[in-house]
Amino acid sequence: MTDTLDIKITKTTHSRLNETDFDNLPFGKTFSDHMFMADYSDGEWKNFQIIPYGEIGLSPAISALHYGQAFFEGLKAYKHADGQVSVFRPDKNAIRFNKSAGRLCMPELPEEIFIQSIAAVVDADRDWVPSKANHALYIRPFMFATDPYLGVTPSATYKYMVLIGPVGPYFSKTLRVKIETHYTRAAEGGFGYAKAAGNYGGSMLPARKAAEEGFDQLIWTDAKDHQYIEEMGAANVMFVLDGKLITPSTRDTILDGVTRDTVLTLAREWGMPVEERRVSVAEILEGAKNGKLQDAFGAGTAATIAPVGSISRDGEEYFLVDPKEREFSQKVLRELDAIKYGRVTDTHGWNYMV
Ligand code: PLP
Ligand code: COI
Repeated sequence: MTDTLDIKITKTTHSRLNETDFDNLPFGKTFSDHMFMADYSDGEWKNFQIIPYGEIGLSPAISALHYGQAFFEGLKAYKHADGQVSVFRPDKNAIRFNKSAGRLCMPELPEEIFIQSIAAVVDADRDWVPSKANHALYIRPFMFATDPYLGVTPSATYKYMVLIGPVGPYFSKTLRVKIETHYTRAAEGGFGYAKAAGNYGGSMLPARKAAEEGFDQLIWTDAKDHQYIEEMGAANVMFVLDGKLITPSTRDTILDGVTRDTVLTLAREWGMPVEERRVSVAEILEGAKNGKLQDAFGAGTAATIAPVGSISRDGEEYFLVDPKEREFSQKVLRELDAIKYGRVTDTHGWNYMV
């Protein structure tokens, strides 16, 4: 790891590592001993520090709380059999971090600061990276506006932080999914392509309503007439239809997922026909009816490869083949894990060693 960022490190006097139950890790509830924090003011990033994980004091007037100048990233670190630790494709998240910053009128963070802050905090807490199968260290970089000012204007000050914590799988079962035909996650000209906190806030009511109807996830459709598929919950969505891998092309309503890109890259290398284009609800439901829909899954850092078991629209439910019998998603999940956990040679340079 390069170590050019001048980071002040204050270690905890009481590690919680031995009190942590690594056999019971619901997503996002366990945090490691340390976190990274930096401040932005006078047009520059400063005060790089690693401190014990815990509460921080903030004014109740900070504009992030009132006007949503806040966004985040999500990536993971993996432990290899030989004990080495790698972070998966942090350069991609660094680029997306700055796309989100740009859309929310927030300052960019140089890629070196993004990557070195992550490497430093993961290094400080490397004993927290789980070694169990399907487990990883989730990394949550985020930025938020800190001016204590109620005027609706971009803040002049910000904080950038990185939290980390061990996680197991986000989804533990095959998903019963509903195609959303009323609510919208993102509209053209909006900020669906940014990992803005507000995108997730707005998704909670539709997700709760779907859960009350017995569904595990929503498939978001276009805001105009709900005819085209966009994403699935907090993941991209991919299909194998008649032997081709099909996924909605990225646009300003869709997050350009790292997992999505990784899956597409592998599929192309394997010689599979790949189509990134608008995907209509009609063709997917037709494929589900006539058996040509061979695979459907969510793709995301937290979600990994999450199989869709059934797709419903307006009360009609279509069941897909048993995930265990799906050739593509099984193969891609195996290969992704083999790369991330260092079981095969990383020919793409995707693993950033810490
Ligand atoms: N789409 C949304 C809305 C997400 O929140 C995520 C999760 O990060 C993804 C897609 C998948 O992106 P990635 O594979 O980079 O995690
Ligand atoms: C991720 O996959 O990293 C995400 O951001 C999903 C999260 C909102 C749970």
